[in-house]
Amino acid sequence: EKYDFGLIGLGVMGRNFILNIAENGHTALGYDLDEEKVDALNKESKEFKVKGVNTLKDFISGLAKPRKVMLLVPAGVVDKALADLLPLLEKDDLIIDGGNSHPNDTERREKEITDQGFRYLGVGISGGAEGARRGPSMMPGGDEESYNLVKDIFTGAAAHVKGEACVTWLGKGSAGHFVKMVHNGIEYGIMQLISEVYDVMKHGLSMENPEMSGIFSEWNQGAVASFLVEITADILEKEDKKEGGFLIDHILDSAKQKGTGKWTSQLAMDFQAPVPVIDSAVSMRHLSAFKTERLEADSILKGPVGRIDEDQATFINKLEDALFFGMLITYAQGFELLRIASEEKGLGISLSKVARIWRGGCIIRSAMLDDFMKAYESDPQLPNLLFDTKLSATVNEKQDKVRDMIIQAVKAGHPVPGFMSSVGYFDAYRSGHLAANLIQAQRDYFGSHTYEREGEEGVFHTDW
Ligand code: 6PG
Repeated sequence: EKYDFGLIGLGVMGRNFILNIAENGHTALGYDLDEEKVDALNKESKEFKVKGVNTLKDFISGLAKPRKVMLLVPAGVVDKALADLLPLLEKDDLIIDGGNSHPNDTERREKEITDQGFRYLGVGISGGAEGARRGPSMMPGGDEESYNLVKDIFTGAAAHVKGEACVTWLGKGSAGHFVKMVHNGIEYGIMQLISEVYDVMKHGLSMENPEMSGIFSEWNQGAVASFLVEITADILEKEDKKEGGFLIDHILDSAKQKGTGKWTSQLAMDFQAPVPVIDSAVSMRHLSAFKTERLEADSILKGPVGRIDEDQATFINKLEDALFFGMLITYAQGFELLRIASEEKGLGISLSKVARIWRGGCIIRSAMLDDFMKAYESDPQLPNLLFDTKLSATVNEKQDKVRDMIIQAVKAGHPVPGFMSSVGYFDAYRSGHLAANLIQAQRDYFGSHTYEREGEEGVFHTDW
């Protein structure tokens, strides 16, 4: 008997995902060179029709045709895995890259591989190890007919929200990996905002970990309800088994990254799409890594690191509104990047579908996504989420609190660059009179780069 689906890479993610597929009624064969990983799968697979093998030959011959083979390997080894795999496949077999690949790599690979007569899909998968087992959010892109070959398998495996699967074909070419990349950019932005809230609570309000954890739990019942807020509440109450106290206080404040947030900023620059909250989240990760330099600077650069001068409950209320505002702006920037890139690349990405499949399973799932889905459903041409009547009314209403929170945080010396850039973006975006006229004048002054005039056709140059 042949297996319905094949998976290469049996790390925790791969093992969990293959078990998830099997639990939903399909048969699946896994391959990994590492015998321990193969054994681990075979041990867990008893009740399902799942098997692990450690030769590519057994793997390929065990799959039903046309074969459906998914790679769940680190981005750096995809090309190598493909080079090993392709010679063993036959025309019309489908290869799926389920990792965090750069969209440009996906475009290159799709061309190379379909030119050889195979099918190819680039699929973003979010939700970590738990998501892979219980239901991730899946973002497939490529040829739609190819997607239909695995549609049932993916629909069964994905997270479900209100009966709807968190997976749907998103568009051609690199659409899936592009959407996943932007998902991660938004993930960076929201994580940065939450960490700023934590910083201000801790250093500005002198709150203890359990107290902060309690606030995040409470918030998780309200407007900012989201996976990232939920896990923050959990993280803050975790005790340290090694040295006592809370684990969070023993973790080095120097953030690492695998690059997907940076790619979002880089590609946003290429498409000239403004995503300043994401940019500042990426920069802050970089700055956090300068630990030694920061410690030195601490003795040279003087400024306050003081208490917030307001009643705690009142200020916490402002923080919650600020977080809502900042999160909404971050999503709005991510969606706008998707809109611009999709148009320019001709990917045909539907933003309401993106919002729909991000509602469950993924790292940036939150209560807000339901509203975003509705906003794009009622107006698919929405230039920006902030144009939606309900969402614009909410940000208009919350902005005073964010401004006030930022002023107090800045006065007391606590860094809130994510929030500052969310408000800066908001103010610039709603402004019909930016100071770019001066920039144009300066460009013309020093370089004769010319400028346009209000209400007049043509370009002008002045001998300044
Ligand atoms: C997900 C995550 C995941 C990503 C981690 C780590 O959607 O499940 O986005 O794909 O690998 O978030 O990313 P960094 O190492 O760049 O922080």
